[in-house]
Amino acid sequence: MNDNLHQLRCFGCGARISGDQARPDFRCADCGDLFEVDYPGWEQRKGHDRPNPGALKWLWRERRCSSEGLDHSGVWRFRELLPILDNFGNAVTLREGNTPLYWLARAAKALGIDQLFAKHQGMNPTGSFKDTGMTAALSVARERGFEWVACASTGNTSAAMAAYAARAGMRSLVLIPEGKIAWGKLSQAMDYGAVTCQLKTDFDGCVRVLTDIVQRAPIYLLNSVNPYRLEGQKTPAFEIAEYFDWTVPDHLIVPGGNLANSSALGKGFRELKELGLVARVPRISVIQAAGANPLVRSLASSHGASLEPVEAHTRATAIRIGNPASWRKAARLVQETGGWCLDVTEAEIAIAKAEIGAEGLGCEPASAVTLAGLKKLRAQKAVSGGETVVLVLTGHTLKDADYTIDYHRGTLLRPEEAAGNEQQIAALRRNAVSVDAAPEAVLSLLKGNAV
Ligand code: F0G
Repeated sequence: MNDNLHQLRCFGCGARISGDQARPDFRCADCGDLFEVDYPGWEQRKGHDRPNPGALKWLWRERRCSSEGLDHSGVWRFRELLPILDNFGNAVTLREGNTPLYWLARAAKALGIDQLFAKHQGMNPTGSFKDTGMTAALSVARERGFEWVACASTGNTSAAMAAYAARAGMRSLVLIPEGKIAWGKLSQAMDYGAVTCQLKTDFDGCVRVLTDIVQRAPIYLLNSVNPYRLEGQKTPAFEIAEYFDWTVPDHLIVPGGNLANSSALGKGFRELKELGLVARVPRISVIQAAGANPLVRSLASSHGASLEPVEAHTRATAIRIGNPASWRKAARLVQETGGWCLDVTEAEIAIAKAEIGAEGLGCEPASAVTLAGLKKLRAQKAVSGGETVVLVLTGHTLKDADYTIDYHRGTLLRPEEAAGNEQQIAALRRNAVSVDAAPEAVLSLLKGNAV
């Protein structure tokens, strides 16, 4: 490994170790907290030694036109900022990243925020933001000679891991909570050939079992406690900055589950600033589902000093997590960037998801918490109409088609959950209708629905 270039620094006590000294569970031997990848050399590169920002920006853009696989990856085209491999030839890539940033025309109008965008990480090869992290960490596993990789998952991590492991010719073990993940995601793990175990527990229970397993067998852990995952997941920050011509938006809004992605994006912006590539870091807000909101509670009750796990319940299964591993990182991020952490109800999530669908984009339920959260922040006047806001949509709409169909059939929410929002929910519903197989029947339907 390129241990001379990077180190792992404990987020809790600041202890530094080299990459090959990490324990199988990626916890600090001294204080039990998680690590971050750190590049001590960057500190010393001040003055004339500093990388030339103009040259880097040109190089990264130019690589998009290259025919080399690594350059096509939206992660590895920024490889100067993630020197985690000895040999970049070991990188396993599915040409992840380079995802679109869409203007949300209707939501922008409705909220009176003209500059409202969605960074759609669901447009990655396996349909979620996990691909950007997986290409990084699985490449490290390959370079270190592991044959097996494993994760506990609410579905997207397992889909991504299984795909990248298959590409690398490695074996993968998936632990998922039985009956609590969306079918699209389960089908991906099967399709890509993972050993898929459904455990009679929740996500947090799967994490406990896997943490034990990786200490007993030579299996490389690919949950987001693995700090190399975050090196890949920080790269959408680079893409966002590049899109805005190396200015940064005022505000980034991210869903919160196990709470690693928000801090990965924060790390990306922080590093850009430290290297003189952008002038500031955006405000970053984290939104949770009301039934799975341990960070919201932690910030409210102890300003993020401690976290009480909750029993998680939400139909946004990707973020059905009661004991998030990276909560300290996320708490500090929200505080340092001046962001907010709030929760949204099942009805608010469902409505926001239908609104993102009506923009022609769609996303999975967990991603929709971002728009639901923004609506709340706007109502509280925490966000002004002149700001540039980016919602990070984390998963593709086809990941959880059952949720979408149930919404449009009107069977998703219980009456007490929908109470007070019935009109809005009905206005966004587009149920499929049975029609006779005749042109007249279809045309008369259109007349009936004429707008
Ligand atoms: N959105 C989606 C679609 C997710 O799959 C996840 C997490 C999150 C948001 C939350 O991100 O955990 O970094 O705060 N899914 C994990 C999984 C836990 O196993 O796929 P986070």
